Amino acid sequence: MKNVLVIGSTGQIGSELTMKLRKQYHQGTIVAGYIPGAEPKGELLESGPSEIVNVCMAHQIAEAVDKYDIDTIYNLAALLSATAERLPLKAWDIQMNGLLNILEVAREKHCAVFTPSSIGSFGPDTPRDNTPQDTIQRPTSMYGVTKVATELLSDYYFHKFGVDTRSVRFPGLISYTTLPGGGTTDYAVEIYYAAVKGEEFVCPIAAGTYMDMMYMPDALNAAVNIMEADPRYLIHRNSFNIASMSFDPEEVYRAIKKHYPNFKMRYEVDPIRQAIADSWPNKMDDICARKEWGWTPRYNLEKMTADMIHNLKIKLGVLK
Ligand code: SER
Repeated sequence: MKNVLVIGSTGQIGSELTMKLRKQYHQGTIVAGYIPGAEPKGELLESGPSEIVNVCMAHQIAEAVDKYDIDTIYNLAALLSATAERLPLKAWDIQMNGLLNILEVAREKHCAVFTPSSIGSFGPDTPRDNTPQDTIQRPTSMYGVTKVATELLSDYYFHKFGVDTRSVRFPGLISYTTLPGGGTTDYAVEIYYAAVKGEEFVCPIAAGTYMDMMYMPDALNAAVNIMEADPRYLIHRNSFNIASMSFDPEEVYRAIKKHYPNFKMRYEVDPIRQAIADSWPNKMDDICARKEWGWTPRYNLEKMTADMIHNLKIKLGVLK
């Protein structure tokens, strides 16, 4: 990895991944791709080049790849699960037609491609606990349909055309830099903001609903390390289960309450998000990622909670 194009660089993952890549690969060029209306700002804007790259505009991808001699594309453009249910055709367009545009450019110009998959690629028929790497994937949400198709199309381009496609199935990602939007797991970010602001949290997901979650530094390491992995040891490519923690709303609430004993939470379950959450695994088995490329997470719920609260206090200017 030398010259990298991050598509969706101002989103929840992209805003942090772009900065990490710029720090790690200072001999290369890390281009922040964005769409009008989601322009990079501050450090992200000032620390390197940025270009308008809409995944639905193949020529914009090709031009950026040529201009910066790109060898690796991180494709982070996506509508998350709840938004994709509201806008299924738009989700298909961004996630599938966008991916095809990227894979075609990658085939012609010899780029490696990372496109995340998700816990959303599984469905109600999937084994819930210790969900295996290779198992039933019959998702019932449009987000999930596009994620399974992403895995298949990415593997197809590897086997048919030799495009170096690799990917991980991200759990719900928790971070303090950029908010996610329209996801089923967003509650696990929002609950921290409520606690630090001293507000009651209204939880849209029912107690007892377990989902895999991950702190952003672990997710970023996964995204970098999978692309750095020695291909001789990769049996799988698109896409690897990765896991670090699994909790339900009560468990994260209790973890936060250790820091804020007066923190209050009540439930107002959102039926759309709940139906999606109910169709997803409780906890994935990530043994293949550990064996094939050395995946090892660093954060559990307690460690993440302390770090989230510390950083949100600084971000929100809360002294106590
Ligand atoms: N965080 C995503 C969502 O909730 C799942 O990958 O949609």
